[in-house]
Amino acid sequence: MGKARAKQTASDRITVQTAGNESYDICLQTSFEGLAEELSRIGCEGRRICIAADETVAELYLEAVSQEVKKSCSEIVTYVFPAGEQHKTLATVQGLYETLIRAGFDRKDYLLALGGGVTGDLTGYAAATYLRGIRFIQVPTTLLAQIDSSIGGKTGVDFDQYKNMVGAFHQPSLVYINIHVLQTLPEEQFASGMGELLKYGLSFDDEFYGWAIEHMGDIEEREEQALLYMIAKCCQLKKYIVEKDPTEKGDRALLNFGHTIGHAIEKLKNFELTHGACVALGTVAAAYISWQRGMLDEDEFYEIRDMNVGFGLPISFDGITEDQILQTTKSDKKMDAGKIRFILLKKLGKAFIAEDVTDAEILEAIRTMKAD
Ligand code: GLY
Repeated sequence: MGKARAKQTASDRITVQTAGNESYDICLQTSFEGLAEELSRIGCEGRRICIAADETVAELYLEAVSQEVKKSCSEIVTYVFPAGEQHKTLATVQGLYETLIRAGFDRKDYLLALGGGVTGDLTGYAAATYLRGIRFIQVPTTLLAQIDSSIGGKTGVDFDQYKNMVGAFHQPSLVYINIHVLQTLPEEQFASGMGELLKYGLSFDDEFYGWAIEHMGDIEEREEQALLYMIAKCCQLKKYIVEKDPTEKGDRALLNFGHTIGHAIEKLKNFELTHGACVALGTVAAAYISWQRGMLDEDEFYEIRDMNVGFGLPISFDGITEDQILQTTKSDKKMDAGKIRFILLKKLGKAFIAEDVTDAEILEAIRTMKAD
């Protein structure tokens, strides 16, 4: 699949309609210039808005976004908090509630999440709960947030050592993606997004997975057409899944391919590794079990594993034991009545939920990735 095809299929507006909720658009743009118009279209004109961002993103983009938002909204309030997963807490949400209360925000006012997955999730959770729910806008600034976390209404915070333990489904009113911000995204964060992107291809669309491999150079250079194509593709896949299963009663769980082991490693490594890096490791484990069960062949397994290296993602880790990972996996909320819900591959591009993966299979898969 060449660049010409990439151009043809990239769409700059994708509408998401989940049952019982208002539809919303994902706008795919190369600047913030269209933001004011989109805000007015959804009814922000003359309303108050609170922009929430972490310190890193605020320094880079708060001014540019505020200039645009000002053209539509009557008043802007900002809430800036320290960057990092360790701040994805109820305490940060509390600070946001206090800001909204002090500014007299009512049910018709808006929140805007400017940032990556942490910002989107915690701002969305504040929006879901403040005054029993106000509307919010996602302006994702990481690849991971642009292709995954900003879409589909999963909001929440971590609680004690549990990731995303407290949360709510609350759909955004708009997702405005400016791909230009990816130019300032650190390598490690870009690779993290690629971990989730490869997941989409492996789970749902082998042709897209092949496209990513073929366009590795363009992707690494963050070439505009390649970014537009791949982000649009992921947004379309995510739209398809969340429209079918908005609250993860069925197929939405397939988006958790690589996450069962991934979340455990993320937690045990104290969030030293990025989310996408941990998902990439979880992907290797899931692909290994799929291979051992005869659903992938040896070449396919090694291609999946080595693609991580190509996109700056790990294939091994150290410092934690396979038993720790297994036990942590068992305490994850991806359990169903005490059973681990493991996502495996029937073949490339076709994921399914397996509830019969044994401890021995999991331990063996983890052992193949241990570097110490
Ligand atoms: N990130 C997985 C989901 O939205 O379901």
